[in-house]
Amino acid sequence: MLINTDNVKEKYNLLFEKISKRKEQVMKFKNFLENETNWLRAPASTRFHLNVEQGLLIHSVGVTYNALDIKTLLAPDITDESVVITALFHDLGKVGYAGKPYYLPNDNAKDIEKGITFKKNPEIVTMNLAVRSLYLISQHISLSEEEAQAIVAHDGLYAIKGGVVNIDYHHNECRLQMILHFADKWTSAVQEEGRK
Ligand SMILES: [Fe+2]
Ligand SMILES: [Fe+2]
Repeated sequence: MLINTDNVKEKYNLLFEKISKRKEQVMKFKNFLENETNWLRAPASTRFHLNVEQGLLIHSVGVTYNALDIKTLLAPDITDESVVITALFHDLGKVGYAGKPYYLPNDNAKDIEKGITFKKNPEIVTMNLAVRSLYLISQHISLSEEEAQAIVAHDGLYAIKGGVVNIDYHHNECRLQMILHFADKWTSAVQEEGRK
């Protein structure tokens, strides 16, 4: 499903109808994110896809609908709730904390010319983004082991800085991790960046 600035709010709110068991926790967390953090306004990156206000929400909602489609096709026994919680919040590490956003508008004219519209907040302690997502979510929502793995390993395995990221999960990825990883990849590369 294609998510854009016109339909994102409606599609986002509809996702919460799929939550039942952990409704109270999730609705409290939604309220916290919307009122005390930059969740509804954060960009998805400083310079790549969706480096605009609300970019992260558009990306996260898009990933969630694609993950739900994949799950319905391949693993219908996994609950919608599990998919929504992990997919919608997988990149929450990019939001930062209450009153302390991870991305700040860039004030450097040269950077802006190059398309770097946001910069990282230097006051935020360094942490792998997916780990920060898990850190934030798990303070508010009780997660299963599979949900936790899906969130921390959503980037999958990639060669990086002379090694491979997430190698620990190799051959031990749970289904939810694979669904989320593929949905994330497809949403950003194909739907957001137009890969053919
Ligand atoms: Fe991510
Ligand atoms: Fe993502």
